[in-house]
Amino acid sequence: MGAKSSYHEIYAGWKREPEAFWAKAAAELDWFSPWDKVYDPDQGAYGRWFAGATCNTCHNAVDRHVLAGRGGHAAIIYDSPVTGAKASFTYGQLLAEVEALAAVFRDHGVGKGDRVLIYMPMVPEALFAMLAAARLGAIHSVVFGGFAASELTTRIDDCTPKLVVSASCGIEPSRTVAYKPMLDEAIANAKQKPQTCVILQRDRLQCDLIEGRDLDYAEAVGLHKSDGTKVRCEPVAATDPLYILYTSGTTGQPKGVVRDNGGHMVAMHWSMGAIYDMQPGDAYWAASDVGWVVGHSYIVYAPLLKGCTTILYEGKPVGTPDAGAFWRVIEEHKVKALFTAPTAFRAIKKEDSKGEFVSKYDISSLKTLFLAGERADPDTIIWAEEKLGVPVIDHWWQTETAWTIAGNPVGLGMLPVKRGSPTVAMPGYDIRILDDAGHEVPKGTLGNIVVKLPLPPGSLPTLWNAEDRFKAAYLEEFPGYYKTADAGIIDEDGYVFVMARTDDIINVAGHRLSTGGMEEVIAGHPDVAECAVVGIADAMKGQLPIGLLVLKSGVDRAPEEITREAVQLVRDKIGPVAAFKTALIVPRLPKTRSGKILRGTMQKIADGSDWKMPATIDDPVILDEITEALRDASVGNFSN
Ligand code: COA
Ligand code: AMP
Repeated sequence: MGAKSSYHEIYAGWKREPEAFWAKAAAELDWFSPWDKVYDPDQGAYGRWFAGATCNTCHNAVDRHVLAGRGGHAAIIYDSPVTGAKASFTYGQLLAEVEALAAVFRDHGVGKGDRVLIYMPMVPEALFAMLAAARLGAIHSVVFGGFAASELTTRIDDCTPKLVVSASCGIEPSRTVAYKPMLDEAIANAKQKPQTCVILQRDRLQCDLIEGRDLDYAEAVGLHKSDGTKVRCEPVAATDPLYILYTSGTTGQPKGVVRDNGGHMVAMHWSMGAIYDMQPGDAYWAASDVGWVVGHSYIVYAPLLKGCTTILYEGKPVGTPDAGAFWRVIEEHKVKALFTAPTAFRAIKKEDSKGEFVSKYDISSLKTLFLAGERADPDTIIWAEEKLGVPVIDHWWQTETAWTIAGNPVGLGMLPVKRGSPTVAMPGYDIRILDDAGHEVPKGTLGNIVVKLPLPPGSLPTLWNAEDRFKAAYLEEFPGYYKTADAGIIDEDGYVFVMARTDDIINVAGHRLSTGGMEEVIAGHPDVAECAVVGIADAMKGQLPIGLLVLKSGVDRAPEEITREAVQLVRDKIGPVAAFKTALIVPRLPKTRSGKILRGTMQKIADGSDWKMPATIDDPVILDEITEALRDASVGNFSN
């Protein structure tokens, strides 16, 4: 297995001649005009890729295949167990849908550089909207449906979209989520309002449209479809933004990760072959959501750039209708590679530990399972390997990078798997481990995982409207390197092990959340003097947030009432995706003598892991009080 892999040779080739490597990858795509420099170190915060070139991502993801005679091949298969709908779109049909929607956007003044915000459930129209924006050279920003109205307001205020695409509702197995009231509230509270909203009416729940602002999606698009309106792909600079995707930072203000057009399409296209071993026509399924980076990269752009068939699944791994849902989809659509978060497999394993549903379906088309989004625990990997009978590949990346930092490149020939490690650095990434002072540590030693600059094509060049924040968050602590904010080790064989975040980001069901953001919300409760949110281990979701609240003196309301309100506040302000369900009232929070809250120590106590009394603690007795509160509430390690 390992002997046949060309990985080492290819990685060494990239290291020797990085520009030649990426120029070769770029030659597989169409460019309207060539680059002056493959990599220009003098542009941007650390350099820019394909400087001087012009291109269009939509052209490469859609038109290019139609022009090559592949217009009749399936581009998108939509499978929605929550509605019972199934639909397939060929590349030719996709082009027609995208052109018609782009014409609607254009009618409403959207052009190059304008922002289009997309707040949509997992329906094909979400993909059409992303591609239509890209076609016009506009910049899309997709917001995940599980976020609340105020998160939407924050994003509207930051990227000031000219137009919004949304739907009347999203459908969760347990409830219908009315999107339109959230959108209206978000716009009402936004400082700068979008001029137009294009609203997809869904059968499950229709909504009212505001005259003069809202358009009915089907009606508006229908007119252009029947007219056969043509909209050309606007040439944009390779370095122009394709999209902004907000992700959690250490505060409540999310970071607007910017993705460029040229470097991104090159990295996406290369990764599809080299990492996932996919060829044009193969069916690829990323069971995620278009609101996350996995959805952007591997539901939409990479599979379409490669000419694959992408599966768009509006459902869950369990409960829609059962733990066999994934295997049904694989059988029905002949899926060759599945990509999801380990939490999805833990959910399936919990309902069907023996894997009895697997044997009910023919999953022989499946060649590989890819996992990312959180650490893949060896138990989950072993279960999946045994039940599916295919290699299970863990790979590590971030919203910031858009694609794999460390992985096992199946298309180059698989390397031996070491469970618990996402394997090795991909070409483009020179990964190092540094101590806090910035010195490289010996192999096998835990430290800060950093990437030597420049980052490869596809990775973020900056944050939207926040270059200083970009530099401060990622580039300043370790000059010459990108700080991943993950801690880990590299072993003697070059295998990377990703152990923990070095900031206050937690990972809940593969979703990245800021505990600082939750603390900001809870601190807004009138009875709360201060609070700490920590992520504690959870067998299914990986981590779950819990809040420890100190009340203002003199508050004598029932504690359950206050904690219930705190939970509701987080749901209302951040959204159900935060999965914040546990708040406890404690007399005091443990701090260092300089006033820093000891979140890590509280987390270890809740998890039952080994912990040491911090030398700088102000008052050790407080940790006994916290332990008692956790025990009384049967939280985490104290739940039995
Ligand atoms: N719109 C509105 N609400 C949403 C939503 C959406 N698009 N997605 C999730 N939510 C809600 C859920 O309904 C749930 O609400 P509840 O508190 O009322 O039950 C809450 O947000 C938490 O959702 P989630 O974290 O998805 O938990 P879950 O219990 O509904 O499902 C899993 C758990 C493991 C099945 C699910 O998270 C999953 O399939 N994860 C794997 C794939 C994945 O999403 N990966 C992401 C990165 S690759
Ligand atoms: P996101 O930006 O939402 O994709 O989250 C990125 C973070 O998730 C990383 O910084 C890691 O902390 C974590 N993560 C993602 N994939 C993995 C993985 N394969 N192993 C360990 N942690 C991971």
